[in-house]
Amino acid sequence: MTYLVTGATGNLARQLIERLLSDGHRVVGLDLRAPADHAGVEFIQVDITDTDAMETAVQRARPDVVLHMASLLSSSSEADPSRAWSVNADASVALLESCRRVGVSRFFYPSTGATYGGPLPDTLPEDFPQWPQNVYGVTKVAVERAGAYYAARHGLDFRSLRLPMVISRYAPAAAVSAYASHAFAAASRGEHFVFPVDPSVGISTIYVRDVVDGVFTLLAADPDRLTRRVYNVHGFAATAEAMATEIARQHPGFSYEFAPDPAVMTVLGPLPSVHVDDSARRDWGWNPRYDLARTTSDMLTQE
Ligand SMILES: NC(=O)c1ccc[n+]([C@@H]2O[C@H](COP(=O)([O-])OP(=O)(O)OC[C@H]3O[C@@H](n4cnc5c(N)ncnc54)[C@H](O)[C@@H]3O)[C@@H](O)[C@H]2O)c1
Repeated sequence: MTYLVTGATGNLARQLIERLLSDGHRVVGLDLRAPADHAGVEFIQVDITDTDAMETAVQRARPDVVLHMASLLSSSSEADPSRAWSVNADASVALLESCRRVGVSRFFYPSTGATYGGPLPDTLPEDFPQWPQNVYGVTKVAVERAGAYYAARHGLDFRSLRLPMVISRYAPAAAVSAYASHAFAAASRGEHFVFPVDPSVGISTIYVRDVVDGVFTLLAADPDRLTRRVYNVHGFAATAEAMATEIARQHPGFSYEFAPDPAVMTVLGPLPSVHVDDSARRDWGWNPRYDLARTTSDMLTQE
């Protein structure tokens, strides 16, 4: 099959692409930034806000499936809200429209827990009202709704996961939650690490290998079994203190401190530690494999 992947140079996309290439698929990747190595990928350097260039890329690729991973993240969106709207929302709708025109059969979109807004309960029900507190969340909930519209109105098979904080070796600095991923890298390099949060901050978390499995399991699911377009997924709950303690247990000598940054705490402090994901478990067998201990051991051996 042919997959078109936007944001192909990014953290999650490159790990999805690794899986696609090893499974023998054709991959067309789009991004603003060229990857260091794009062996096996037909890479097109493009700004997705250039709708003509995007349309040409979609026409040229004729994909069966689109993974739409390109986005500004939370900090960069807050720094430039109109650019965030144009990249995250307008370009996504333009892409949905191109996909409808060429008859793409399935469209994957990574949404986020940031589509919910405070005050939030510590265990977040799936259908809790979505009133995002930052522009990133506003753009992401807009695309959830646009995707559901394209599914209902045009039969485009839009499927989405609302991801919590993802632990990944390539976590981008622009994500306010990237500190958790960076803690593992610092431990591996023998560097002192400063957690920018209170030790008690515990956010719903997921390991990137479970994200990759989740995306492809959702995409492969029988459409008749799906009861919604957007599913919550949750890997494990762990406070910053539990994370630091586990890293130190597996990597003795890990040196760290907590120096809460008020700007980071404003965003992350109120977030739930559990996202209820019963629908994903029931409808398509979501069953994450990585808890904190397994995530830690995998992250420490990758560096
Ligand atoms: N990492 C997480 O914790 C997390 C959590 C929830 C949702 N998500 C979502 O997953 C997706 C991927 O996140 P990531 O962690 O890989 O981020 P990332 O920043 O590593 O990847 C995004 C990619 O999009 C590209 N991009 C940005 N603007 C572009 C434009 N105008 N044209 C073309 N390319 C552009 C960037 O160059 C980058 O390579 C995003 O949609 C994000 O909102 C991530």
